[in-house]
Amino acid sequence: MFEVDYKPAVVPLFHVRVCINRRLNTDNLPNCAGRGSRELADRLEQRIAAENLPVKVLRGPCMNNCAIGPNIKIQAGAMLNLNTDVSDERFERVMHEIRDEVKKRAANPISEPEASDTEPAAP
Ligand code: FES
Repeated sequence: MFEVDYKPAVVPLFHVRVCINRRLNTDNLPNCAGRGSRELADRLEQRIAAENLPVKVLRGPCMNNCAIGPNIKIQAGAMLNLNTDVSDERFERVMHEIRDEVKKRAANPISEPEASDTEPAAP
């Protein structure tokens, strides 16, 4: 028999999408990967796992806010434009936003419909 350190999967309450687009042009236009968004996504994922937060990090394409990236979008929530700031302080503020969003959504879960809502009305 195997003994493993089993951790049940955490069902995400929401996604945090990080733009990891890297421009393959020679115009030196700004892009999120060029400003450290891929490392940022890795770091977010590690911290979220370490804190066991019910959040999933998705790496995604350009969000058309390249000039003020790296860009992070909390699903149905805030758009965070880091504007080249990937410092430890800014990272902690992003984590603070994510924790706040978890608290807010955990406090207001989507309610299940009442039985009377799902049954057809009597003729
Ligand atoms: S490259 Fe990230 S928003 Fe365009």
